[in-house]
Amino acid sequence: MHADTDLQFPDLHDAARRLRSANLADLFARDPDRAGALAFEWNAWHVDISKERLDAPALAQLLQHAAQANLGHWIAALFAGEKLNLSEQRPALHPALRAPDADSVIVDGVDVMTEIRATRGRMAAFAAAMRDRRRLGAAGVALARVVNIGIGGSDLGPRLCCDALAEAGEMAADSPEVAFVSNLDPEHLGRTLARCDAATTLFLVTSKTFTTQETLANARGAREWLARGLGPRRDPAAHFVAVTNNVAAARAFGIRDEDIFPMAEGVGGRYSLWSAVGLSIAVRLGWARFVQLLEGAHAMDLHFRHEPFARNLPVVLGLVAYWNARWLGHSQRLVVPYAQALARLPAYLQQLQLESNGKSVTRDGAPLRTASAAAVWGGVGTDSQHAFFQWLHQGTHEVPVEFIVPVRACHPLGDQQRMLVANALAQAQALLVGRHDDALRAELAPKGYAGTRLEAAIAARRCPGNRASTTILLPQLDARSLGALLALYEHRTFVEAILYGVNPYDQWGVELGKTLAGPVAAALAGDVRAVDGADASTRMLIERARALAADDS
Ligand code: F6P
Repeated sequence: MHADTDLQFPDLHDAARRLRSANLADLFARDPDRAGALAFEWNAWHVDISKERLDAPALAQLLQHAAQANLGHWIAALFAGEKLNLSEQRPALHPALRAPDADSVIVDGVDVMTEIRATRGRMAAFAAAMRDRRRLGAAGVALARVVNIGIGGSDLGPRLCCDALAEAGEMAADSPEVAFVSNLDPEHLGRTLARCDAATTLFLVTSKTFTTQETLANARGAREWLARGLGPRRDPAAHFVAVTNNVAAARAFGIRDEDIFPMAEGVGGRYSLWSAVGLSIAVRLGWARFVQLLEGAHAMDLHFRHEPFARNLPVVLGLVAYWNARWLGHSQRLVVPYAQALARLPAYLQQLQLESNGKSVTRDGAPLRTASAAAVWGGVGTDSQHAFFQWLHQGTHEVPVEFIVPVRACHPLGDQQRMLVANALAQAQALLVGRHDDALRAELAPKGYAGTRLEAAIAARRCPGNRASTTILLPQLDARSLGALLALYEHRTFVEAILYGVNPYDQWGVELGKTLAGPVAAALAGDVRAVDGADASTRMLIERARALAADDS
């Protein structure tokens, strides 16, 4: 379905019609320079979009479209701390969070770098105290385990970075363990606490609003568990630290002022790991590696700010995502990192992309008349080859795939890294070229297949190919390259938002479910009148759930 806005961009409309039915292998056959023309280099990274359903003219038109959308103005506004989050009248301060100490970013006449510098100093001191075992709990014993209690952006980023980097380098053997609890499901906190000892456990309550139901429930559960474990005569305050924009609520919970780390209102949750939300990262990896994470992201910031669009990775990749979703009609996008350390990257990118661009009105409140962000999902390679790659190769849906491939292993083991990289490149190649009848016939006939049995065998093995992908080759995964990769995704999400015309920094869509959960919870507890106006399905489900909850025979 072509929105009437297509007519505003006839060149892109024509390009989409041309390329939608093109055979990608033919595009390579017709243009020997295609692989080079649609590849991009940055700091030894190699980004290949030549397997995307694009060609140089279409990319040129997209770049022109970006210029017409005034992308340059919006990028400058982002880094200047302008209030781009219109519905909440806030700036988006994640670039400032990794800016050098000497920088200044003025918002409403105040240099936000002042608080950022001060918080960095407090974070470094806290991480050192934890790693040196100088922070004692109520029992006079050093705190040796951190449990981060948070959800969404107060969980996904720190958890990804700890997961990705904790095994990536030479970790101090006695580095504090960091666990993450996010879900309201009591199993999550319960299973985590089962592995903890009250005397040596510190809870890091990470919540920008300090009102999120899951986080407050888990923080209260942790506090009760601690009281039981420490006994009534011991003050649990030393076992709690908060990261929040709502200092009053953290104080009311019982967290001491010296243990509250601020989080500026202009820092969006899904963009916050660079702030004090990253405290768990600094504890787990050490302050020096947290700084490397910031430095990697800042390097990508500089690239995004200053590189001409035609060689600008966030711009080009943002355009590819926009092209696939808005012009080619793809409603899904797959991210497959070929690195076990990045297993949590798809989950992180889901929040980043879908809370940012899962919108249907423009930043001015007008209804969007075209498709906006595609769903992002994925898995780690090579495991995904044994999970959903069958669907990718022979299913009826074409879904663009992003392969993220660190080439060098952090801990080499035989030739496994070479085989891992080979699998990634081969999967992208298989999606492009497929496997067709002639080749299958030549393969199967000598094996005795003939007649209808041969035709059936060919049909079962046929892979259409002609399926698009992007491949990002990184030299290796370390704190700097991870920081740059995550900043790349933040900025390409921003580029897409500008092209859709949406505000990527608010998330009003999450409020309705939270509001409806109140009356449903009351009804499940017996106050069935609380859902009198609810739909019949919800009321029946509540009735059945109450019956099942009561029937614990
Ligand atoms: O999912 C909605 C959301 O507001 C996210 O944007 C945010 O990261 C998460 O909930 C947690 O919010 P808070 O950090 O305020 O607890």
